[in-house]
Amino acid sequence: MTKRRRIAIVFGGRSAEHEVSVVSARSVLAALDPERYEVLMIGIDKQGRWRQLDALPAALGKGALPAVHDQEGRGVSLARQPGDSALVTDDGTRREIDVVFPILHGPFGEDGTIQGMLELAGVPYVGAGVLGSAVGMDKAMQKALFQAAGLRVVPHEVVHDRDWERDRDAIHERASRLGLPLFVKPATLGSSVGITKVKRREDLAAALEEALSYASKALIERSMEGAREIECAVLGNDDPIASVPGEIVPNAEFYDYRAKYLDEGAALVVPADLPPGVSEEIRRLSVVAFRAIEAAGMARVDFFLTESDGIVVNEINTIPGFTPVSMYPKMWEASGVSYPELIDRLFDLAIEQNARERKRGRTL
Ligand SMILES: Nc1ncnc2c1ncn2[C@@H]1O[C@H](COP(=O)(O)OP(=O)(O)O)[C@@H](O)[C@H]1O
Ligand SMILES: [Mg+2]
Repeated sequence: MTKRRRIAIVFGGRSAEHEVSVVSARSVLAALDPERYEVLMIGIDKQGRWRQLDALPAALGKGALPAVHDQEGRGVSLARQPGDSALVTDDGTRREIDVVFPILHGPFGEDGTIQGMLELAGVPYVGAGVLGSAVGMDKAMQKALFQAAGLRVVPHEVVHDRDWERDRDAIHERASRLGLPLFVKPATLGSSVGITKVKRREDLAAALEEALSYASKALIERSMEGAREIECAVLGNDDPIASVPGEIVPNAEFYDYRAKYLDEGAALVVPADLPPGVSEEIRRLSVVAFRAIEAAGMARVDFFLTESDGIVVNEINTIPGFTPVSMYPKMWEASGVSYPELIDRLFDLAIEQNARERKRGRTL
């Protein structure tokens, strides 16, 4: 019998994906065996304050999503002491933790910032490190690394807000080379927030304004019309393995925020109905993508599959959704790794990664 591990699940946060993160946290919590894990629930409210909660937040009202409310629970901070990482609540209670699971999507959670803080505190945490997380959150940077690793990416243009402010004609000119329709998206967000499908030239400006209201950088991409959306889950550190691929069949025009988390807006087909050769190739490319950004622990790699372009990488997510309708755990289940086993492995991988850094003397 191994020692009961003390886990801190950190969720919520300052990003537009706050509520999604709370839904993910709830389903991870439900999967954890209380005999083996003691769980501390750390909710970050929308102002960025950490709170230790006694229960997960519930949704207020029909159709609403749960959020971490101000003033709930006790304030908590992470104590940074050599070889001893603890969470300390306002009343002075100090609890050492074995692993942190940051289930935070988007900026300040998935982008390397909290990972940097956890590195400083020397505490093992699930998922990619600072570099992998930062690149995984940046759709422009990851595309550059994917291309360097020989992966095919969607034809695109990267637009910084300063370029858009200075010379709009030049941006229109660059966009026109990609044809129509286009997808315009913030470079550093997820969950389809701020994304617009542009069918007419005259709508490009508004779409860019929208995307640039969320991030200082936007992407204009050629629309992969009629593409199938295939995803693949990766798990591991040095020897990552890929799951069977799954397919998203959106009912809406694209797999948007509502389709992902609110409605039953998309059908998930796991395993995806693919010829064995294509499936194998997608698994191989997923591991290439995982390594290209130097991810660790887990990631979900999303592809477009078309007759004319073949397998094209869309993006990588270093903290994939863990909601009851999320693909990442579903794809592992279809590959023979149950939800609780998956979570166990993620904790082991986090401890392995941290132990290595400790040995190297990098960790305090
Ligand atoms: N270039 C594209 N061509 C076709 N569909 C796209 C394209 N880019 C995004 N989409 C659609 O929008 C969804 C969300 O875009 P994505 O880049 O995956 O952003 P997010 O990080 O928000 O998931 C995709 O799942 C897909 O349905
Ligand atoms: Mg996506």
